[in-house]
Amino acid sequence: MASTPHLALVGLMGAGKTTVGARCAEGLGRPFVDTDDVIEATLGLSVPGIFAALGEPGFREHERRAVADVCASPVPLVIACGGGAVLDPENRARLRDTSLVVWLRADPSALAERVADEVANRPLLRERGASATLARLDVLRAPAYEAAAHVTVDTDGRSVDQVVEAVIEELARCDA
Ligand code: S3P
Repeated sequence: MASTPHLALVGLMGAGKTTVGARCAEGLGRPFVDTDDVIEATLGLSVPGIFAALGEPGFREHERRAVADVCASPVPLVIACGGGAVLDPENRARLRDTSLVVWLRADPSALAERVADEVANRPLLRERGASATLARLDVLRAPAYEAAAHVTVDTDGRSVDQVVEAVIEELARCDA
């Protein structure tokens, strides 16, 4: 890992990567980037628009570039990674080399509640229903999150403040 690593948050949709990441960035005085925002800004399209125009493979290609770009920043960042970014071995290796990677874990039922109002922005949740899809992705992706992450922070039953505190403690431990 780099000497002053980025802080990268990974986990399923609804895990709180963006909310927790923005708050951690504020607390740490670091810039915050969300890989989905980088991709949207590059292409001038929303995530659903990119899925519609290029399909998931096209989105993943741009996601790989976005992960490479943000990881290459000389300034230590807080990075919220799109939920599927860690499926790519190249992304996992890059993130692990440059960042403290924290998996924000949550039960799929809690995730489904959290994303209830934002399903429209998440193409993967639209088709078969958020609950069933998140339960399936939880099983399929757990090995990739585990392989990517240096540490896991459980978010079930914890407030955003408590999760932010736990993540910042992990970073402090790794800096020490
Ligand atoms: C995805 C998660 C989304 C976004 C895209 C695909 C995924 O990001 O990258 O819809 O495959 O889990 P969030 O995890 O920030 O919702």
